[in-house]
Amino acid sequence: MSRPFYIIGFMGTGKSSLKRYLETTNQVIDLDEVFERRYGTNIATYFACHGEEAFRQRETELLRTVSADFIVTGGGVVERAENLEWMLHNGTVVALDLPFETCWERIRHSDRPLVKRGKDSVKALYERRRPLYAQAHLVMDASLGTMAIADELYRLKEENK
Ligand code: S3P
Repeated sequence: MSRPFYIIGFMGTGKSSLKRYLETTNQVIDLDEVFERRYGTNIATYFACHGEEAFRQRETELLRTVSADFIVTGGGVVERAENLEWMLHNGTVVALDLPFETCWERIRHSDRPLVKRGKDSVKALYERRRPLYAQAHLVMDASLGTMAIADELYRLKEENK
């Protein structure tokens, strides 16, 4: 199999919509879904029972076990420098980028555990992570929309063959 594309980006940048679009014609893995299947619980419950550090450790382990044309990651995968290094070394890393306010409007009513910490805290997280996402091979403006991004990814995939 060719090297995967890793899709990274903050919560609310549209990774899941992109996943749904890509998977109509490609092999796609969503790391959060792999996590929930593997641990038999949703991420919010896992956070509540075991804490964020335990989640990061499991997420780091799982990242090394998955392979597919496209691997969609949770927004916090970049929290561990070793994960970013792994993805940059093993595939093509594509970051989806959107302004904070747009992300916030999309996620504020979700059950994501970090969102419960409130807007200021999530904004600080966004600012802190932005330079990490920027280390991707390619940063895409997510306001272009899912279809345009998917088309560009298909093109890159063909080019990489
Ligand atoms: C997280 C993002 C979530 C999920 C978990 C932690 C984060 O994924 O992995 O709640 O730290 O940003 P999405 O980016 O798909 O919401």
